[in-house]
Amino acid sequence: MAILDVHGDVYTKFTWDYVQANPQLVKLYEKGKVSQWNATTDIDWAPEVNFGEIDPDITPEERAMTDGFMGFDLPESPFYGMDEAERSRLGWEMQSWMVSQFMHGEQGALVATARLVETVPGIDSKYYAANQVADEARHVEAYAKYLNDKLGTEHVYPISKPLESLLVDIMTESRWDITYLGMQIMVEGLALAAFGMGNALFRDPVIKQITDYVMRDEARHVAFGVLALKEVVPQLTQAELDDREEFLLEAIDLMYRRFLLEQVWERVGVDVEQGKAFAESNPLMIIFRQVLFSKIVPNINKLGLMTPKVRQRFVDLQVIQWENYEDTASEELAAEMLLG
Ligand SMILES: [Fe+2]
Ligand SMILES: [Fe+2]
Repeated sequence: MAILDVHGDVYTKFTWDYVQANPQLVKLYEKGKVSQWNATTDIDWAPEVNFGEIDPDITPEERAMTDGFMGFDLPESPFYGMDEAERSRLGWEMQSWMVSQFMHGEQGALVATARLVETVPGIDSKYYAANQVADEARHVEAYAKYLNDKLGTEHVYPISKPLESLLVDIMTESRWDITYLGMQIMVEGLALAAFGMGNALFRDPVIKQITDYVMRDEARHVAFGVLALKEVVPQLTQAELDDREEFLLEAIDLMYRRFLLEQVWERVGVDVEQGKAFAESNPLMIIFRQVLFSKIVPNINKLGLMTPKVRQRFVDLQVIQWENYEDTASEELAAEMLLG
């Protein structure tokens, strides 16, 4: 069994104040309670999923998107000139890689949020975090069942190095607001965007249904992080802000590097450096990585964490255009919470 041990020194916080004082968190918690679903019975597991199969129902638009994404018709692409069967296999590898990383990231969320139950001071946050823990267990369960039962265990990918490093960074931290920053803002913000795009590229109804269900929960989780941090950030000292900045810069780099797809190139037998160079320069992959930051950048800005260095990093990665982007999922949620 592959087990990763991570050491973290934490303060467990009990509170003897049981008054629910944050009405927005109370609403979010109530919403979480009635939004539970069952991965065993609510997902239709019946459709057959055949790894590698050429999709007979693919529309010309979907086809154009996949072809552009992999650069099948671009001479500079390592995949130029692949035949139908090879193209199809590569599409399935991409799907399997993405879903595998979703599964590992979901376990990260499960563990990090369990930590929050222990370390956050307020009872409202402990309640909501506990509710999120149940959500995350269900997400890991659903993705693992899909990978193992529908795609086949031989197609599952190990966790990518950058994601593993980020999870270790998050869990080594003793300060609970950094747990939120790393998990709810960075990892889950990116996941929310990745789920949306993944669903446009994914090829079977089972994974699409799972991801639709998961996305609904994730929108609440990101909102939870924003609500919690909105109260904390204004109280931080300059030295504490500098620490958060340093953490963020590292997290941003790790998130960006996740999507250079080394593991896929290795598995399909493409020279890794050539594959990475392609991932860095292919226009659709650039757009894909930019969209991945569409929830993170505006939330960092809203929280008052857009320091000159963080901003410069977003400029360098060409994602600063999201700075004032209205994060629709969270906005809708906020409106719902505020209007009842
Ligand atoms: Fe999740
Ligand atoms: Fe989540």
